[in-house]
Amino acid sequence: MMKEPSLLNRLTEYSKTRIPMHMPGHKRNESLLSDGLPYGIDITEIDGFDNLHDMQGVLKETAELAASLYGSCAAFPLVGGSTCGILAAMHALCPRGSHVLMARGSHKSVYNGVELLGLHPHYLTVEHDKYGIGGKINPADVEQMLTQHEVDLVILTSPTYEGVVQDISTISGICRKHGAYLLVDSAHGAHLGFSEKFPESAVSCGADVVVMSLHKTMPALTQTALLHICSERVSAQAIGAALSIFETSSPSYVLLASIDRCLRFTAEKKDALFSAYSEKLASFYEKTKCLQNLSVLHFDDPGKIILSAKHASLTGTELSEMLRNRFHIETEMASMQYVLAMTGFCDEAASYDALADALFAIDREIAPASDNKTVPAFPLPKQVFTPSEAAGKNGEFTPLANCAGCIAKEAVWAYPPGIPMIVPGEEIPQGFPEAIAQMLQSGVEVKSTTGHIKEKIMLTTT
Ligand SMILES: Cc1ncc(COP(=O)(O)O)c(C=O)c1O
Repeated sequence: MMKEPSLLNRLTEYSKTRIPMHMPGHKRNESLLSDGLPYGIDITEIDGFDNLHDMQGVLKETAELAASLYGSCAAFPLVGGSTCGILAAMHALCPRGSHVLMARGSHKSVYNGVELLGLHPHYLTVEHDKYGIGGKINPADVEQMLTQHEVDLVILTSPTYEGVVQDISTISGICRKHGAYLLVDSAHGAHLGFSEKFPESAVSCGADVVVMSLHKTMPALTQTALLHICSERVSAQAIGAALSIFETSSPSYVLLASIDRCLRFTAEKKDALFSAYSEKLASFYEKTKCLQNLSVLHFDDPGKIILSAKHASLTGTELSEMLRNRFHIETEMASMQYVLAMTGFCDEAASYDALADALFAIDREIAPASDNKTVPAFPLPKQVFTPSEAAGKNGEFTPLANCAGCIAKEAVWAYPPGIPMIVPGEEIPQGFPEAIAQMLQSGVEVKSTTGHIKEKIMLTTT
């Protein structure tokens, strides 16, 4: 299979030989447009280049390569990110109006799926550590919830944004026992399973469907992802039909070629790449052990570097600004207590050195924290309406200060990572306005569906 020319080679060859009387409208006219964008290989589904929604040829080869590389039963290349894979999997695996059990820390694509499909969500919560980072889901909680509720689908995020990996093997056994499917949002886990220095991939731990963003942790263009079917319980036909709802009918072949290239590259060089990657990470962690005020840690996935400002005289947001403005290092996200630096096997040793040097320079300038920084904790709000019921209600704005005890019509989340703090249909807990104010004050971006959370929030009226 690997001996066949890559999709990229086929596109390059094609563009030299055919006159384009078809979409897209740029007609591969690079000399007219002359701006360096890859018009030459930007075709869509034309003769000889297969059909993403009915893979029979060159895209089928890419899909088969993905399945064999990750060890899944079947794989679907995606050009709409993990977002479209999650929505499609939810659509295929749970009937409209059914019950789902989901991690409260789920990405908003999962919440959007809940609203679109009129689902009844039940939530799995986790303890948050002293940095405010959510920990592991207790399999006993899954067992208890599945005993209490008739759930069709369980949805977990593993690894999380910060690199916490869930016990998928145990949880998948519990799901099977209760007749529920297990969908794992592994948007941040496309690099797992290739080296013993990293955790196992959810694909090999008993999940039914795993969705992963290639673009987040692997060398692939933004928006590229994979959906894996990992068990005989899931129908490829049902997944394919659902993908045709949520994914474009004009997929970008630049993105598809990037997926194909990423898979081939990884299949060919994974041992050397992951061994060099883990060595660079190990040396970075060793080097930064002796920081005085800042500290460097990681959870299960060593590729997600957590730069903790918990015991230092600055916030995570201030630390990320210093890294950006003075050292030209752009990190992935910042919260009050920490900064998340994402790595991948394409990072050069020089990048780790630059980050370590910057941390030591900042560490020398700052002092230990003078106050005990605490992270606002939210109790799980009471669900009065499901998200889709709330969407059908009328709404009106109320000043943020007066909203406690009322029912939200919109979602509120901190960005990144985009996890909702309030979901439509939930009663807003006491202390919520103060917590939002505290987060905004410390530089965390807080967003709401309507975009007015700094002043007001949309509540349900009838
Ligand atoms: C946990 C998680 N799931 C899903 C997504 C969506 O992935 P994508 O951007 O590939 O659509 C994200 C994106 O940030 C995420 O963090």
